[in-house]
Amino acid sequence: MSDTKAAIGIFDSGVGGLTVFRAIRQRLPEESLIYLGDTARVPYGSKSGAAVTRYALACAEIVLKQDVKLLVVACNTASAHALDVLRDELDVPVLGVIEPGARLAVERTRIERVGVIGTVSTIRSAAYQDALTGLAPNLRVFAKACPLFVPLAEEGWTEGFVPEAIARAYLDELKEAEADALVLGCTHYPLLKPIIGSVMGPEVELIDSAETTASVVEATLEGIGLRAPPGNLPSFRYNVTDSPEAFAEVGARFLGHPIDDVEWVDF
Ligand code: DGL
Repeated sequence: MSDTKAAIGIFDSGVGGLTVFRAIRQRLPEESLIYLGDTARVPYGSKSGAAVTRYALACAEIVLKQDVKLLVVACNTASAHALDVLRDELDVPVLGVIEPGARLAVERTRIERVGVIGTVSTIRSAAYQDALTGLAPNLRVFAKACPLFVPLAEEGWTEGFVPEAIARAYLDELKEAEADALVLGCTHYPLLKPIIGSVMGPEVELIDSAETTASVVEATLEGIGLRAPPGNLPSFRYNVTDSPEAFAEVGARFLGHPIDDVEWVDF
C-alpha cells in the first residue's frame, strides 16, 4: 500500500509528456513527481501498437521501481495502445490522456462535431474515435494524423510561414468538416496552439488533454485517499533512457524553465 507522500509517476515516449507534467505540477503543487522520457525509443507515433505496448510496459517497470502511488501515461500513442494492458498488469492505478480529452470534447461541442489530431499510430488505433462515440453515440468525429507537428514543436519552430503552411495542409479538411471542437491528441500539439487556433478559427475550441488529465489525477488521488499532506515539500525527478543533455535542452522549452539533474536509466 502506497503512502500519501509517494510520487506520481509519469511517462512518455520522450520530452512531450512534460506538457502533462507541467499541468499536474500546476494543479497539485504539493505532489512529488517522477518523469520518465523513453528517449531511446522515441518516436512512438510511427510505431505499431504491439511495439508501443511493449515499450510502455518497459517504461512502467522502470518508473515503478521507485516509490510511486499512481501512474500517468502522458503519451497519447501509449495511452491509445497500452492502457488496458498496463491496468491489467500493474498494481497501482493507471491513468491515460485519451479518456479525459474525449470527455472534455464531448462537454464542449454544441453541435456534436469533433475533430481529433494526433500521431499516425494514435489516429490509426481509433482510440479517440471510440472514446468519443462511446460517450456520445451521435457524435461525428473527424480524425487526422499530423506527424510533422512533433518535430516542429521540438525544434521550437512554432510560428511563421513554414509551420503555418504545414498546419494549413493538415487542417484545411478538418476546417471544412465544420467541427466546433478539436482535440489536440498528442503531447506536443499544445505548443502549436496559436498556429492551430489561427488556422481553425475562433469558432473552434482547442481541447488540451493535459489540463483535464491533471484534474482527473486530482480526483483519483482524492478518491483513493492518497493526496500528499498539506505543506508537503515535493521532489521532482527526470529520468531518460538516452541523451539526458538533449532532453534538458528541449525540455526547458516545454516546461518554460531550465531542467537540471536529468538522470539516465538503463532500459
Ligand atoms: N508523445 C507522443 C504522443 O503523444 C508524441 C511523440 C512520439 O511520436 O513519440 O503521441
